[in-house]
Amino acid sequence: MDGRIAVLASGVGSNLQALIDDQFCGQRIALVVSDQPNARALERARDARIETAVVEFGSFPDREAFSAAIVEILVAHEITHVALAGFMRILSPAFVEAFQGRILNVHPSLLPAFPGANAVQAALDHGVKVTGVTVHLVTAELDGGPIVLQEAIPILRYDNADALEVRINELEHRLFRVALRVLIQGRIQVHGRRAMIEE
Ligand code: GRF
Repeated sequence: MDGRIAVLASGVGSNLQALIDDQFCGQRIALVVSDQPNARALERARDARIETAVVEFGSFPDREAFSAAIVEILVAHEITHVALAGFMRILSPAFVEAFQGRILNVHPSLLPAFPGANAVQAALDHGVKVTGVTVHLVTAELDGGPIVLQEAIPILRYDNADALEVRINELEHRLFRVALRVLIQGRIQVHGRRAMIEE
């Protein structure tokens, strides 16, 4: 089968679950890696009988060594594609290079607005009327790679971060698996900053 996916996740892992439950992606997930030994994402992986690995940031002198340790595990598992599903660590440029064009990230805003952590709250605080979800290829620039899929969500009059996050998560779950599937199928063409999905 084409494509051996590693999912990297730090937290609850609802995006991981959406990928596990997807017919195409689910059967290709070969490994789940977390930097948090108690991440709920790891439990979800074990429940689905997917191999897991924990790589704690604090065990390494710097981001480069931390990232290199993950690369080593991914290579040992013959991973071809990497899905960052709420992975709250920045990976090194060497990591990005090792899986160039084969790493996807899901981000809870309409990039390039509100990159980085706490994007849902940042959008609310800014008072924007529309936010959304972006799935993009990962480059060395934080939340800056070519956009594969993006969809907007209106911010409602009495929204708070919790309510908005529920709708954002639902949209993430829908977009992430589609983007990962077309990536593995080799259907994403990148021209400069623009990523185009072939029909
Ligand atoms: C998602 O909103 C993702 O975009 C962000 O962190 C959240 C992770 O959620 N980077 P989950 O762990 O997949 O439930």
